[in-house]
Amino acid sequence: MKELTDWLADPVPGHFPYPAVTHEFHRVGKHFVPDEILKSLALARERLAPEAPTRADAADRLLLDRFLDTALDKWDGRYDYPSYTSLSVLGLPTADDGPEAAAAARVTRDRLTVQLLADLLRFELAAAEGRTEWLPEMRPDARMVEKRCRLAVRVARPALARLGYGERLDAAEPAQQAAQLWELVDGELLDPRERQVLKLSMLPVYISHDEHMFIRVLQTFETTFALLALSIRTAIGDLDGARPSSLPSATGHLAVAETVLAESAPLFSLLATMQVESFRVFRDFTDGASAIQSRNYKLVESLCRVPDKERLDSPAYRSTPEVHERVLAGQPTLDDACGAALADSRFSDADRQLLTASMLGFAGSLRRWRQTHYRIAVRMLGTRSGTGATEGTPYLSSVRKIPVFRSVTETPDTDTVARTDALVGAAPRTESEETA
Ligand code: HEM
Repeated sequence: MKELTDWLADPVPGHFPYPAVTHEFHRVGKHFVPDEILKSLALARERLAPEAPTRADAADRLLLDRFLDTALDKWDGRYDYPSYTSLSVLGLPTADDGPEAAAAARVTRDRLTVQLLADLLRFELAAAEGRTEWLPEMRPDARMVEKRCRLAVRVARPALARLGYGERLDAAEPAQQAAQLWELVDGELLDPRERQVLKLSMLPVYISHDEHMFIRVLQTFETTFALLALSIRTAIGDLDGARPSSLPSATGHLAVAETVLAESAPLFSLLATMQVESFRVFRDFTDGASAIQSRNYKLVESLCRVPDKERLDSPAYRSTPEVHERVLAGQPTLDDACGAALADSRFSDADRQLLTASMLGFAGSLRRWRQTHYRIAVRMLGTRSGTGATEGTPYLSSVRKIPVFRSVTETPDTDTVARTDALVGAAPRTESEETA
């Protein structure tokens, strides 16, 4: 590729030919990019390596490093879920950012949620109106596109409202609202860096239309998991030392976590519009990438309470070695902090009730997430195994019942199953599923 060869002669990170490179990836899908291009990209990475970034080009260099890391995952033989979903390119907040970063992380989560969903809809509308040739296989029909518009807008709305743009989607029809959302994001909610991140964070493995939505939905959930991990970690810090004065802050962080997870639930309904046949086709090329490798999801789970030994020794944590290590190193958990607070005489009965209600509220939303996830996996996979080396849905069926906390008694809501089935439009269940 001429653009890449020219760049190699003078490898300045800010001048990297992203449009030419992503065009090659998009033309055939990441799984099929010709070797010569990947070889040139690997050479680009080598050229960069010895050069420490200057202060002026540090941000360009970081983005290029992350992009190359994502683009070369299959070439290097280290393709996995974080690289499939371009998580490093998104640059999400982390649980280690500290309590002072929590407020900014909420804004980041809301902005990114709105940006990712607006881009998802931009692509759906462009394809429906014949304005793009990209990812041409198995276009959805008009009814499906309208449904996608309605559901993605539903998830974006509360985030938009918090960002101060609550009134802006006032069109009558879902497709018009979707167009308004992209117009708003394009005009007012994307700085130049965010625009670049949005463009570089989409490298489907194949050329199926629906893979675009699949990746954006995974990324949107990951954006929420990242905030959850930081919020829970901050709540643990608040409860440390059993100071009743920090209780409002702790319960506030838990309320944020519960709210954003609940607001994300229609993403599963959105994903349920994915054409099963389409999923089965591109899934052939995602082998080795499974969300069982989601670091933030396991971090959330293990920050809630120490996983039981059997779970810790299972593929669940073997797939996230970094989180496994944190657990072995004895990272503090909300369960322990809460247990200590509930037993401390400095906390009044009202304090205890408030804390218990917050814990149960968050546990309920995580349980509903697991149940809905299980239902969508049944719908999309049937009896096929997962890409993460588990047996698939039987694994998910068993892990959805793992208690989120031990220090408070969770009573599964009787309507969880009905509500989550409604979210993914599940087929009637078989007798064996009912008793699973
Ligand atoms: C087509 C839709 C989906 C299917 C068929 C599906 C299937 C599966 C399967 C079979 C597993 C077990 C591990 C494996 O063998 O791969 C799994 C795990 C997981 N999935 Fe999904 N999934 C879907 C959508 C999602 C979405 C949208 C998310 C959001 C990020 C997600 C997050 C997770 C997480 C966090 C795990 C690990 C759960 C655990 O270890 O307890 N999945 N999924």
